[in-house]
Amino acid sequence: MIHTPVLLKESIDYLITDKSGVYADGTIGFGGHAEKFLEILNDDATLIGCDVDKTAFDFCKNKFQNDKRVRLYNYNFDKIDFVLKVEGEKKLTGAFADLGVSSFQLDNKEVGFTFREDAPLDLRMDKTKPINAADVLNSFEEEDLVKIFYDFGEEFNSKKIAKRIVEKRGTKKFTSTKDLYQVIEELTPPNFLRKSLSRVFQALRIYVNNELDVLKTFLNNATDVLDTGGRIVIISYHSLEDRIVKDFFKYQSLECVCPSEFPICVCDKERRLKIITKRIVTPSDEEVKINYRARSAKMRVAEKL
Ligand SMILES: C[S@@+](CC[C@H](N)C(=O)[O-])C[C@H]1O[C@@H](n2cnc3c(N)ncnc32)[C@H](O)[C@@H]1O
Repeated sequence: MIHTPVLLKESIDYLITDKSGVYADGTIGFGGHAEKFLEILNDDATLIGCDVDKTAFDFCKNKFQNDKRVRLYNYNFDKIDFVLKVEGEKKLTGAFADLGVSSFQLDNKEVGFTFREDAPLDLRMDKTKPINAADVLNSFEEEDLVKIFYDFGEEFNSKKIAKRIVEKRGTKKFTSTKDLYQVIEELTPPNFLRKSLSRVFQALRIYVNNELDVLKTFLNNATDVLDTGGRIVIISYHSLEDRIVKDFFKYQSLECVCPSEFPICVCDKERRLKIITKRIVTPSDEEVKINYRARSAKMRVAEKL
């Protein structure tokens, strides 16, 4: 299995409100969720799928080649409003995103997303982007590296790791995942090693792909083009992403943001969303047993007013 879709039943139940609607899967990956959405949708429905990863895009091109309802774009999902225009559609019935990387990306040695294999230190999902993870380690100021490891990975050893990277790159440039692995291994007690490796690699991946800003833009653009009653369903795997989704939904669901001491409302704030999942939806113990990678998934859903 290339990738096992997470929270599948919940995704279908929350997303599909009209079986003949226009849906967007912003992170179609290997089409695991999309395939199940299509099983439920009518012949006159449309499913727009985006993925920045060319391998995932090509895989889905082939997988859905005989399904006229599917339109695929090798685009970043923050361009969902633009894609909708290209499709000649005015509104979306539902927008879905299953964030992060697929099991294929994590397990594939060539892509370099995992520290478990020695591979080129890249971490870009979109290989046309100019800066990869090795460029960051080889050229950024020490304090900028500290900030990346701390802000995006919450790595407590950020300062020491950044300092050692700057020392090492003076004699040999960083080129492979092993180079970074060794630095972290030298500075981390064995029982913390796996966690530190995960945090530092993840921090670099988030930075290189600008994942948090892109998510904010997607949430905004998708909300703009959602039809009344349409749902936005997001699965995240990282606390920073989940906080962005939570804060966005909360802000969009407020009628007024004036300070409480103001006698009247002067903010002209528009209430655009209603929160559907008062608490986050997480996978059952059973799902985590079958698919360990589902363990950190958090789903949030909101509806356009
Ligand atoms: C967790 S996987 C999705 C798996 C998919 N739901 C399935 O069942 O096969 C996340 C996918 O999102 C893609 N991706 C991540 N950020 C993206 C972005 N900003 N725009 C478009 N695709 C993105 C990744 O390349 C990856 O294929």
